[in-house]
Amino acid sequence: MHQSTTEPDCPRNPVKPLLNMTSDHQPANEVIRQVFEKTALSVGDDFFKTLTRNLSQVLGVPYVILARLEDDGMLHSLAFWNEDHFSDLECYDPDIAPCGVALKDGSYFCARDVQQLFPKDQDLITLQAQGYFGMALRDSGGRVIGNLYVIDRRPIEDPTLYRSVLAVFGMRAAAEIEREQQTQKIQSLNESNTHLYSQEKEKSKHLASALERPEKMQVKLVQAEKSAALGQLLAGVAHEVNNPIGCIIGNIEFLQSHTQDLRTALALYQEQSANLDSSVQQVIEELELEFVLEDLPKVMTSVEASAIRVREITQSLRNYSRSDCQVKEGVNLHEGLDTTLLILRHRMKAKGDRPGIQVKKCYGDIPKISCCSGPVNQVFMNLLSNAIDAFDDANRDKTYQQLEENPNVIEVKTTFLPESERVQVTIADNGPGMSEVVRDRIFQAFFTTKPEGKGTGLGLSISWDIVTEMHQGQMRCLSKVGEGTQFVVELPQQRAG
Ligand SMILES: Nc1ncnc2c1ncn2[C@@H]1O[C@H](COP(=O)(O)OP(=O)(O)O)[C@@H](O)[C@H]1O
Ligand SMILES: [Mg+2]
Repeated sequence: MHQSTTEPDCPRNPVKPLLNMTSDHQPANEVIRQVFEKTALSVGDDFFKTLTRNLSQVLGVPYVILARLEDDGMLHSLAFWNEDHFSDLECYDPDIAPCGVALKDGSYFCARDVQQLFPKDQDLITLQAQGYFGMALRDSGGRVIGNLYVIDRRPIEDPTLYRSVLAVFGMRAAAEIEREQQTQKIQSLNESNTHLYSQEKEKSKHLASALERPEKMQVKLVQAEKSAALGQLLAGVAHEVNNPIGCIIGNIEFLQSHTQDLRTALALYQEQSANLDSSVQQVIEELELEFVLEDLPKVMTSVEASAIRVREITQSLRNYSRSDCQVKEGVNLHEGLDTTLLILRHRMKAKGDRPGIQVKKCYGDIPKISCCSGPVNQVFMNLLSNAIDAFDDANRDKTYQQLEENPNVIEVKTTFLPESERVQVTIADNGPGMSEVVRDRIFQAFFTTKPEGKGTGLGLSISWDIVTEMHQGQMRCLSKVGEGTQFVVELPQQRAG
């Protein structure tokens, strides 16, 4: 703190608030006009600089400084015209400087020796300051917000001109500082709003995904449980069937060679005993022995073929029932589709009240792909069983004859899309189709239009996850009421990750 303001040379000069515009003060008037012309169109930083430079030139003082009072009580220079250029001035403490007095008293005039009066103020020494005139700047609420001052290397004899000019431009500068402060406040408010907004958005995203998570978890649990149970069942059945089938296939060979031996023996026997008893001859004829002997190898072959087929089925059931995502290379989707159709065959066979559902296979030339075959088969199962469910539902209103004329058809089509290196599987039915409202929701977990106990509403949502998340593929549904339904599944040839 300084005590210098009581010095006779440096009396405190509370500023007269208004500029005296009489003809006695023509120079002030002229100075103001000149500075006003130069600064009228500038704002903000530009104004601060134009003002200090022009004041210096018009008033003929080397240094003019405009500073803002910060919340921490320090002054921060907004523009410092230093003789012939702008200089930077660090934040400085007004308490050791004449500015402190100006801020406190509204204005401060020191005609000479200001350096000695404020010995701690290094800047005054550097500038070789003698005279000082400062004017506190006030905002619209009367609060001091800065200081506009001139420093001269010579004594200032008459402060009148400075007082008038700084009073006018001090007001304009204060208004400009206030405007800048408000702009900054609005900006930071906007920024914090934007920040808050994005924070809230992020939060709500987290919240949404947190809310979604239990549902997804539940879906996954149900899926895992269902798949595991189905898998265990299928694997168990396949295992149980495998041994007897192995036994059948293994023994058919013996059976064939044994029957061949018997046929040879029988032929020999017939040759040797030309005159068979008529009753024996009769039995032979009744048994159609000749036909039996001829047919037996064919029966054997067909039994063997069927047994081999059963073994293939059990094998594919065991593969099919894999529910985990073990990526397999070289998966043939046609095999998965065929097995699924085979498993569902009992649901598509003709029944008393309706003819069978026809399956049209349009298999294209598709490459083998790398995918999780178990889950992919589950997708085919879900899509095909939904089509059958839809037929079942719609068939209730139709007669056998109507259905024969317009049969239920499921078309399974596969294509390779070389541009995207994807395999496209289309499963289409000519069933009842869906309304737009239903179609928009089918991939939502737990959405079902089926009666309780029949639908879980999980099939398509699980399929969606398997196709899009597990395989980075695509899935879409095209459907209209009365025009059937088409599901398109696209799986990349190479599974990423
Ligand atoms: N092929 C289809 N034809 C008509 N509607 C279908 C078909 N596939 C699915 N849907 C509709 O989508 C709904 C959801 O199917 P999904 O997720 O498999 O659950 P769920 O079969 O247990 O109902 C079904 O309830 C049905 O309304
Ligand atoms: Mg379903």
